[in-house]
Parts: sequence; structure tokens; C-alpha cells
Amino acid sequence: MPFTIAIDGPAGAGKGTLARRLADHYRLNLLDTGLTYRAVAYALIQHALPLDNVSAAETAARQVDMAKLDRAVLSAHAIGEAASKVAVYPTVRRILVEKQRAFARTPPGAVLDGRDIGTVVCPDADIKLYVTASAEVRAKRRLAEIESIGGTANFAEILADIVRRDERDMGRADSPLKPAADAHLLDTSEMAIEAAFLAAMAIVDDALARRNKA
Ligand code: C5P
Repeated sequence: MPFTIAIDGPAGAGKGTLARRLADHYRLNLLDTGLTYRAVAYALIQHALPLDNVSAAETAARQVDMAKLDRAVLSAHAIGEAASKVAVYPTVRRILVEKQRAFARTPPGAVLDGRDIGTVVCPDADIKLYVTASAEVRAKRRLAEIESIGGTANFAEILADIVRRDERDMGRADSPLKPAADAHLLDTSEMAIEAAFLAAMAIVDDALARRNKA
């Protein structure tokens, strides 16, 4: 069976960086599932269609090509916000989840990060991590990121955005963001990404050793 590491958590907790580091280290495929929801939102925006046009969102979801998810195009903040609106529709989720599962089944296995990986997409994952940080810390990181590329932004607005997105992702009826019962919790509020990576590595190494013994 391909090895699967499931990483969930709210926006800005550091799960993307952690997923990339783990995929590199263990030579696994990597899928940022947020990009699949972003691709649907982007397609609707490109065609000037409203984000609540469910049948158009379903069509866009069917057309998502997992090999062509362009982070540079999809990473815009407004697309993330739009993605969380199309992500509430169960039919859209079902189409994307099938594609995500097929990706996870591809040898040698994968690190997938998102909101529902440990709970819905890969409930049998070898490792489940729930990466979180306080909303204030996530807002501070986002502000620093914007400033580091010469941009300006308002802390209070970023924080309000983060809180709103958390509410939408945790409050939706289908596949809300929450830790799987068997997830390891990693709070990165006061932890540098390197420390989070080391903590995650210890968890993965332990699971690999047990798997090899079995
Ligand atoms: O992680 P990212 O910010 O790219 O995700 C954008 C939005 O896509 C999230 O706010 C969430 O609503 C949705 N999403 C989801 N399930 C996932 C990944 C992302 O609902 N597995």
C-alpha cells in the first residue's frame, strides 16, 4: 500500500511548508488540495460566473487537471477566499475528493495537505497531522509575508479575513475542518517551522519503523 501522510489545518498555520519538507525528505508525491478548490473558483471567475453557480462549479471540478495546478496563478488571496465559497458544495467536493484519492493511491505514496484529508479523503492515512496556530500568529505571519515582497496591508483586516475563513471552513456542513480523532496535533504558534518539521519527522519515523516491523 502506498504510504500516506495527511496534513490538515487552517490557512496560514504552516502546513504547506511542512508538507513540502516531508515530501522532499521521504521522497513522496505532494498534493496541496487547496489548489484543487482554488482551480474551481478560478475557472468560475475567469468565465465571470457567480461562485454559487453549483452546476458550473461541478463542471469546473470535473475539468481540474491534477498535473496542471498552477500555484503562481492560483495563490492570489482573493482566489483562496473564493475557493472557500465553492468548497461548501458537497457535489463539488465529491468530484475533487475522487481525484485526490487517486493521487494518494499512486506509488510510492503522498503527502496531502488540506482541510479534510485525515477525516474524509484518506481516513486510513499512515500518519495524520493537524497543524494549527492562533489566528493572531497566522495574521502576523501573513503580514510579514506581504511586507517581505514590498507590499502593504492592514493587520486588523488580515486578522478579520482569517477569522472569517476559519468560520466558513470549520462551520460548513460537509467535511468541516477539524482534527481527525487519531491526528497528532502540532501547534506552531510558538514553534519555528524547523521545529515543527523535526517533530513531524519523529512521528513519521516512528510509524515507518512500526510498519516495517509488521
Ligand atoms: O489551503 P488553501 O488556502 O489553498 O484552501 C483554500 C480553500 O479551499 C480553503 O479555505 C477551504 O475552504 C478549501 N479547501 C477545502 N478542503 C481542502 C482544501 C481546501 O475545503 N482539502
